[in-house]
Amino acid sequence: MMKLWGGRFTKPTHQLVEEFTASISFDQRLAEQDIRGSLAHVKMLGACGIIPQEDAEKIAAGLLQLKERFEKGELAFSVSDEDVHMNLEKHLIEQIGPVGGKLHTGRSRNDQVALDMHLYLKEETSELILLLNRLVQVLVERAESNLDVIIPGYTHLQRAQPILLAQHFLAYAGMFRRDVERLEDALKRIDMMPLGAGALAGTTFPIDRELVAAELGFSRLYENSLDAVSDRDFILEFLSAASIVMMHLSRFCEELVLWSSTEFGFVELDDAYCTGSSIMPQKKNPDVAELVRGKTGRVYGHLFSMLTVLKGLPLAYNKDLQEDKEPMFDAVDTLKTSLILFAGMIETMQVRRENTERAVRQDFSVATDLADYLVRKQLPFRQAHEVIGKLVLFCIEQGKFLADLTLDEYKSFSELFEADLYVAIDVKNVVEARNSRGGTGTESVKHQLALMHEWLKGQ
Ligand code: ARG
Repeated sequence: MMKLWGGRFTKPTHQLVEEFTASISFDQRLAEQDIRGSLAHVKMLGACGIIPQEDAEKIAAGLLQLKERFEKGELAFSVSDEDVHMNLEKHLIEQIGPVGGKLHTGRSRNDQVALDMHLYLKEETSELILLLNRLVQVLVERAESNLDVIIPGYTHLQRAQPILLAQHFLAYAGMFRRDVERLEDALKRIDMMPLGAGALAGTTFPIDRELVAAELGFSRLYENSLDAVSDRDFILEFLSAASIVMMHLSRFCEELVLWSSTEFGFVELDDAYCTGSSIMPQKKNPDVAELVRGKTGRVYGHLFSMLTVLKGLPLAYNKDLQEDKEPMFDAVDTLKTSLILFAGMIETMQVRRENTERAVRQDFSVATDLADYLVRKQLPFRQAHEVIGKLVLFCIEQGKFLADLTLDEYKSFSELFEADLYVAIDVKNVVEARNSRGGTGTESVKHQLALMHEWLKGQ
């Protein structure tokens, strides 16, 4: 079959080379963007008098028809036409005749493919931002509806100090909010138009790049043609922001796996978000949480494959750049599904208050507050730390918790202890005592919630 670029060749392409170099199997995902870009380009060619207005209109009508045929699934793509750009151009020429061959005037596949990628990623990034906003919303709602739930806070995965469950949710809300900000920032560079760079050096035709940019809704243009066709930084930025999103999801997933175990029992994941075992009838596995955690690896992989493709690549276009598509598509798909499922899982999980309440009463996580109690009675903190350390050791030996000791027992460790110590180590009071800005006290958490609401309103 005759290639669009067949003129200078005397032999057909080796079958395996054709398959190896073709991208149509995956870049047909850019068909809509490719047609949209072509429509803007041809409109400009007509408006600038580069091709007759009449031809521009014929081509535009042909492109619209092509779009319809594509949407109906009527367009057959072939590997011998290599990629989405040449497949579509061939269909256009078949449809409207040789005038269709004027579409590619002043344009190269190099700036065309870059344009398609910018158009695609701009839309998808905006959609991902909405999904992240929705997740923050869900976290805020769950924080509000569980404002009285206290859980153990951990460091080194050892019980540290009690915190509100809402404080934990809001920590993640803060991370996802930063993810939104990162994607919004990346969007500034995704929102740049490369078309008009030609193959690498610009074009001899009097094109109007501003017109095309305005038509396609881009805020900026690339000011250097070499940069325009070689740049994939915008994909790297997207993939790195995407990797950070996945890392955040993965950390939370790890906690949900722990929290839903019998050992923790803090939450019960909804049946709709779990699966069973083919052999063990009692099992209910947190597969969604595990798989989101697992899929984090593939998104990191995409970031690294892209960084590696770009490393040492000379200017301008090189075929290596064709390897930018699959990582980007897969990262977008993975992120979308993960965010939707994760938000649903958080929304539907039950908090098992009977277990969280028991957990916070059966540990030594109020020890810091007991030390602070002595400090308020003017014992230097270092000595207070020592006294409470000994008390904890005593409790462990006796198989008791701090609240179980009598005042006399306390007094044998320090004369400074009075009956009010029991108030100081009540878990609720311990949490409520931390209303420093950003702290876990209810007042502070309510303030954090108000700030999150304000931010969400502006989104
Ligand atoms: N399929 C190619 C890609 O995705 C389009 C650009 C090809 N340009 C070229 N000079 N071979 O990168």
